[in-house]
Amino acid sequence: MVKKIVVLAGDGIGSEIMESALTILKAANRNDEYDFQFSAHAFGGSAIDLTGQPLPDETLQACQQADAILLGAIGGKKWEHAVQTPEAGLLALRKALNLYANIRPVKVSDALLDYSPIKREIVQGTDLVVVRELTSGIYFGQPRELADDFAYDTNRYHEKEIRRIMHQAFQIARSRRKQVLSVDKANVLATSKLWRKIANEIAKEYPDCTLQHQYVDSAAMKIIQQPTSFDVIVTENLFGDILSDEASVLPGTLGVLPSASHSENGPSLYEPIHGSAPDIAGKNIANPVSMILSVVLMLRQSFGYYDLADKIEQACFATMESGVLTPDLNGTATTSAFTQAVIAKLER
Ligand code: NAD
Ligand code: IPM
Ligand code: MN
Repeated sequence: MVKKIVVLAGDGIGSEIMESALTILKAANRNDEYDFQFSAHAFGGSAIDLTGQPLPDETLQACQQADAILLGAIGGKKWEHAVQTPEAGLLALRKALNLYANIRPVKVSDALLDYSPIKREIVQGTDLVVVRELTSGIYFGQPRELADDFAYDTNRYHEKEIRRIMHQAFQIARSRRKQVLSVDKANVLATSKLWRKIANEIAKEYPDCTLQHQYVDSAAMKIIQQPTSFDVIVTENLFGDILSDEASVLPGTLGVLPSASHSENGPSLYEPIHGSAPDIAGKNIANPVSMILSVVLMLRQSFGYYDLADKIEQACFATMESGVLTPDLNGTATTSAFTQAVIAKLER
């Protein structure tokens, strides 16, 4: 059956890593065993340039009708003061599609151990997942105001929003080492007190899993000090944003971390956890692994195409193991050279 994939390349390195990942997907499906239909749409800063809006109606409609959505990255200095910024467009897309469950796996492969700034004996074997609540919390809470001499945001969670993300975390834990760590700031925040109470309630439905709680400040420290002690980390929107970028220090770069965002029944969206990397955009040196692994997540989680996913993932890791690396990992490969090296591995 045909799978309709909406492609939102976005801004900065977005189009470079998207081109890489799609070239690899098409090479892996050279015999047309799988039926994919790709359609590209404007999103983010480039959509502002074209239409005045970061999330044009036409793009949103295409996303709503898709079987899955691939997003590169959005944002950049040019649009920082736009009436509606690219970032606002991204939040609007997540909200419109109800993509509340953002799954950010962080696995440090042995190929990357030498490039991690953390000692080998500490980082080796790291395999954790950040389950980030994505459509509520301080990102969306009302009221909010920015005046000349004061400003405020509202952090707000409804128990239903906490329940559903907890279920996601425990279900993922069931397929792994069955350890859920809920990260909050319950010593200070009302939202965190509710978060912790609901986490304890949901844990009773998963007696095969353990639940522990940790304050976010101490969790931030422990992610670097003892990364292998984590299995599934479930946390609110803002803490998940920060902790997942922090976790990129473990593999040594943001450029290898993918993510999946799920709703209750609509299409899922797959995107790297990093941004548009304006400092390296247009130079053909971005690491495309984050986007390639986002495609791998799509093949598994939206389509159940495990063989194709395994094939691409193995070729990608084999390429890194062979020493073909982009400059973020101290290598000299360009984005396109890395892409071609992955395709050569696929053909073996
Ligand atoms: P960033 O994630 O774009 O970059 C941080 C650092 O990581 C930079 O030094 C960058 O060169 C490096 N980096 C990121 N991805 C890389 C890759 N694939 N290969 C090699 N190096 C990589 O964060 P930033 O600079 O704070 O933000 C830039 C813009 O991106 C901002 O407008 C921000 O709002 C936006 N942003 C968008 C998303 C998204 O689209 N989901 C996520 C985060 C930030
Ligand atoms: C991410 C990004 C976004 C977020 C920004 C660009 C709105 O940092 O996807 O992690 O904070 O969620
Ligand atoms: Mn982020």
